[in-house]
Amino acid sequence: MSTPNSPERGTPDWWEARYQSGEIPWDSGIVPPEVQTLVASGMARRGWALDLGCGSGVSSRFLAQHGFRVVGVDLALSALQRAGRAAQDLALPAYFCLADVADLCFLSIEATLALDIGCLHALPPERRVVYARSLAQRLAPGGLYLLYGLGPAPSAENGGAGGPPGLAAQDVAVFVPQFHLRWAQHGRDRERASTWYLFERA
Ligand SMILES: C[S@@+](CC[C@H](N)C(=O)[O-])C[C@H]1O[C@@H](n2cnc3c(N)ncnc32)[C@H](O)[C@@H]1O
Repeated sequence: MSTPNSPERGTPDWWEARYQSGEIPWDSGIVPPEVQTLVASGMARRGWALDLGCGSGVSSRFLAQHGFRVVGVDLALSALQRAGRAAQDLALPAYFCLADVADLCFLSIEATLALDIGCLHALPPERRVVYARSLAQRLAPGGLYLLYGLGPAPSAENGGAGGPPGLAAQDVAVFVPQFHLRWAQHGRDRERASTWYLFERA
């Protein structure tokens, strides 16, 4: 919940404040095994990759170290500055843009891979439809899209403790018919259900 002095949850200022204050439990510095496995499998054709809601660029750097040219998109400037500096220090082909993941029209690339680790699940439902349409325009036919999201937030009546709204199974219908679901892996992330999805652009 926001107070008169704190930005509303999920707004650009709220994300920026999280990075500035260091309240970023998701930023462990670890590349998720699901990302590592996909890249090692060779299923993802090398080319441009998009890291949507890239944060400080941990996965962006990994992709750039494994044959991709990467565009990371985020709306928290502090996170992007960290991502940019780290990529520059390592001379990696990773570029970072301050932008909304639901509006990728400023890009002219056709990516072969897109990642979203914990960004879509924080967007309000009406933005998800726009996001899916925008992503479909930037992903090549046959391109892969790896998505990680928490399940739906428990309601306040059931003791829900805030956090992002989350993704229910039916929410991924926004990707039909431009994307085919290859697989979904269900798990748990602390007290919430979570799922990894792999989609292929039709
Ligand atoms: C939970 S963090 C995950 C960051 C990164 N993917 C990682 O795994 O470390 C979600 C990220 O999405 C970004 N974000 C949230 N809404 C966004 C939007 N509409 N456009 C761009 N980035 C957004 C936040 O600033 C934050 O960096």
